[in-house]
Amino acid sequence: MTSLALSAPAKLNLHLRVRGRRDDGFHELETLMVTLPGLADTLEFFPSENFGFTCDDPSIPSDASNLVVRAALAYQAASGQGIRHRLHLGKVIPHGAGLGGGSSDAAATLRGLDRLSPAPLGPAKLWELAAALGSDIPFFLTGGAMICRGRGEILEPAENVPSIPVVLLKPAFGVATPDAYRRWRDSKEVPGILYTAQEAHGLTWFNDLERPVFEKHRFLAEMKQWLLARQETEAALMSGSGATVFAVLRDGSDAAPLIAAARRELDPGLWSWSGLTA
Ligand code: C5P
Repeated sequence: MTSLALSAPAKLNLHLRVRGRRDDGFHELETLMVTLPGLADTLEFFPSENFGFTCDDPSIPSDASNLVVRAALAYQAASGQGIRHRLHLGKVIPHGAGLGGGSSDAAATLRGLDRLSPAPLGPAKLWELAAALGSDIPFFLTGGAMICRGRGEILEPAENVPSIPVVLLKPAFGVATPDAYRRWRDSKEVPGILYTAQEAHGLTWFNDLERPVFEKHRFLAEMKQWLLARQETEAALMSGSGATVFAVLRDGSDAAPLIAAARRELDPGLWSWSGLTA
């Protein structure tokens, strides 16, 4: 019998400014993140004598390198209580996609364990645990639309962000986030690719990580330009450090023909999703 099942949604970065490299090796950011409630992993909590973790995707490690396991161990250490639940993760969000899947799973772990605890740690302590585990994880404790600064862990609710129709496309390969940041400063623009800010739905869309990622993965740059040339598309951008590139749809445009054409003209193996931002 399940004690609790939580949705762990993906995120999109609607803008991402890299302000510079910090002394601790991380990069100072300003990014607008929104959750995608319709694209989510599921984390189930089952009563158990001991902690355990399983995942329906065999390619996901289930040892201490998994962020769910690391979040559970961090929670256990902070609370001083043994974890009396077994966790099962149903994976939907692709990996290496810039959609925050692993971070969202970790945040759901902390939220769930605290909800099930007889002595909850509360939001401030959860934020601290989340920030120590990864830059995006505090955002997923609340989700919605947030301006994230610092490494990404300093949050401010973003006002007046509408719900926006988007189409997400991702090739089979993923992008390694540390590599994208490492190459940010010295990378060059690929000629013929649009990097400057775009206006759509009353927002400004740009991503400073496109420069290092597109330089290494030209196909992602091509996908962006291909999307920009489609009449359904109002703006197109990479999310986070990739490899997802997404289209902001014009009002009244259909996602299905756009996705079908992308598979036909770009790559038959593309992963896709369409729906609304939070
Ligand atoms: O914090 P997280 O584990 O998600 O970050 C993964 C990697 O991305 C970091 O080890 C770092 O190399 C890079 N990163 C960064 N600046 C940030 C966030 C991440 O340099 N603000």
